[in-house]
Amino acid sequence: MRKKLIAANWKMNGGLVANRDLTQAILKGVPENASSVVLCVPFPYLAQVGAMLQGSSIALGAQNSSEYGSGAYTGEVEAGMLVELGCSYVILGHSERRVLFGETDDQVAAKVVKALAAGLRPIVCVGESELERAGGKTKEVVERQLEAVLDVMPDVGRASLIVAYEPVWAIGTGRSASPEDAQEVHLHIRGLLQRRFGTDARGVPLLYGGSVKPANASALFAKPDIDGGLIGGASLVAGDFLAICAAGDLMN
Ligand code: 13P
Repeated sequence: MRKKLIAANWKMNGGLVANRDLTQAILKGVPENASSVVLCVPFPYLAQVGAMLQGSSIALGAQNSSEYGSGAYTGEVEAGMLVELGCSYVILGHSERRVLFGETDDQVAAKVVKALAAGLRPIVCVGESELERAGGKTKEVVERQLEAVLDVMPDVGRASLIVAYEPVWAIGTGRSASPEDAQEVHLHIRGLLQRRFGTDARGVPLLYGGSVKPANASALFAKPDIDGGLIGGASLVAGDFLAICAAGDLMN
């Protein structure tokens, strides 16, 4: 069984004092031999949280990066800048970026290419809306989103790629996908990766995201193709996040 990877997505939350308290509590509470843990924090706080994580087993990540190299792109953040600040992960193609900021499949794919070139591990988010699920289009949507990335990604990126299945209707709603439904989509994603990567597909961590809480984490992580979680709301509450990390360890 793959070691679980638990990534926190703080989204646009936090502040200097709150970040310090939350990071301290997480550092204190992460169990020994813990699942791999990543904190993806807002850009302005990367340096603060990165400094606190130094020397620990917890990794730092960002929540977006540009499809461009450095240059005249006001307001954008280049992948190499994130590496300089100590990031080793970056979330790309989150549904909030796709829906609220109009990111396209091609843009997400270009971001992945740049992130990989900079040495980051991209956490590529895919997932269907409620309407798409109701229309029986879940697998088709996930496939389209992922294939856009796989079509342009260099072969060497295989070892770094992480995929997060996040059904849009489950994000922030308290209504997680059932472990069975999530497993079904994860298995489909695994199959898709297998067609491209052969046996290397087994090494690609597939995370589930969408209302993961201490109460449902163990059941989700018990599924064979769910290799960890991408945690939103519960990652802002130290006790909840730690409980989810502990649930990840139980399944090692
Ligand atoms: P919630 O855990 O708050 O549902 O958010 C999930 C998510 O979007 C993580 O990227």
